[in-house]
Amino acid sequence: MGFDLVLFGGTGDLAWRKLMPALFQAFRHGTLPPGGRIIAVARDTLSDERYRSLIQSRFDGVELAKRPTPDEFARFAALLHYLRMDLSQAQDYERLAQMLNARAADSVVMYLAIAPSLFTTVCEQIAAVGLNGPATRVVLEKPLGHDLQSNQAINDTLRRVFGEEQVFRIDHYLGKPSVQNLFALRFGNALFEPLWRRETIANIQISIAEDLGVETRGAFYDQTGALRDMVQNHALQLLCAIGMEPPINSGAHAIRDEKLKVLQSLKPWTAESIGQQVIRGQYAAGTVQGQAVAGYWQEKGVAPDSRTETFVALRTEILNWRWAGVPFYIRTGKRLAGRDAHIVVNFRPVPHPIFKTPAGAANRLVINLQPRDGLELHLLAQGAAQHQGELALSQAHLNLDFEQRFGTERVGAYERLLLDVIAARLNLFVRSDEQAQAWHWVEPILQHWKNDPVRPRPYAAGSWGPSAASAMIARDGHCWSEEV
Ligand code: BG6
Repeated sequence: MGFDLVLFGGTGDLAWRKLMPALFQAFRHGTLPPGGRIIAVARDTLSDERYRSLIQSRFDGVELAKRPTPDEFARFAALLHYLRMDLSQAQDYERLAQMLNARAADSVVMYLAIAPSLFTTVCEQIAAVGLNGPATRVVLEKPLGHDLQSNQAINDTLRRVFGEEQVFRIDHYLGKPSVQNLFALRFGNALFEPLWRRETIANIQISIAEDLGVETRGAFYDQTGALRDMVQNHALQLLCAIGMEPPINSGAHAIRDEKLKVLQSLKPWTAESIGQQVIRGQYAAGTVQGQAVAGYWQEKGVAPDSRTETFVALRTEILNWRWAGVPFYIRTGKRLAGRDAHIVVNFRPVPHPIFKTPAGAANRLVINLQPRDGLELHLLAQGAAQHQGELALSQAHLNLDFEQRFGTERVGAYERLLLDVIAARLNLFVRSDEQAQAWHWVEPILQHWKNDPVRPRPYAAGSWGPSAASAMIARDGHCWSEEV
């Protein structure tokens, strides 16, 4: 009957900011299966009532349209329970088992919104009290490990304790409607597939820019950096969605098999290519959206002489018949000029121009992921301009804004993913071999940086990152989308 969702880290940042609001939205939309319990687990001594009122106060910070009315909250709060646990104490898992075994839920979700260093212990303890049966699913937040070796250690434990189909590795980018639309664009439309290859595409750029800094997560971030935090997972998942072959069906195995092949085909690094094609930066003080902000070194929890990167730009290739020779650029960073995630597919110019066109003009497909999701197709057309009586072309674009087209009530990433876990749908979760392959690919960069005397390049907060990132792409004769 119903589901039990055990939220380890129930008083943590992720629970407050993302998971509770997502669960509430699912509840409001009537998509949360009935008869469920949400059991928050943390170290603090709290009653159910106290936990509920803490959650209610947190909703005050949520945007108005997503805030519960008192009546809605009262009904939602009835699902919330609290269990105090010290995760290092075996007897505390016995208490959890008693609580769960008191009824036989159809689906038991163990959501580990906790430090990755605790994953192994928690999984082993869950198994020790017999809570790893077939109804159980375990959800793991990224980063799953710190490098390839620690990722393998966690996955080895998971394999001993759970079947692969019980393990839900979250990459919340896969739950975003805009990312699902990327799959729809590629595999639900016949239009682009014949063009989606080296013969017609000059280069592809994946940018995930954030204007926020490290916020309250300085200590965590300083041990992590942008390569582990964003590239190893979110950016590579986007690259897979753009670069993969059409899967044989929409099932979890078919999709994940194709993503794995992309990761296996990424050009291996050499010391020389890392030196030339991977740029790391770190933000200095600057101005973001008109506000003066501190540099990374001044952030709470950050070591005063930290060498952690808050920006990465890199160039890679997918070594297969479809993509050989096409550069894929990835760029992500904190405290950049704006919050803007998009993918640009730059097509090759016409082979023999017969009209006057702006220098370097060619077709471009921009896939906007956030803050708004949509598609822009840049074409060349005849505007007002004439050039000595000749046809002169200018850029014009077709614009499809998904929010405008489908309304703003789109299902959020965490809402979608939580419902998928409860219903045991694995399509939007990352398989262990996929994740290990992504670690395998970033590992040489991590090693190189460990011994590299050159510090990350400083960039002013509010800029688009270090100028070296523009120089890197300019060497191929290309430029980032905002430089066009
Ligand atoms: C998380 C990273 O995975 O993604 C954060 O740990 C980052 O550092 C966040 O801010 C970005 O997610 P979104 O959905 O806001 O683009």
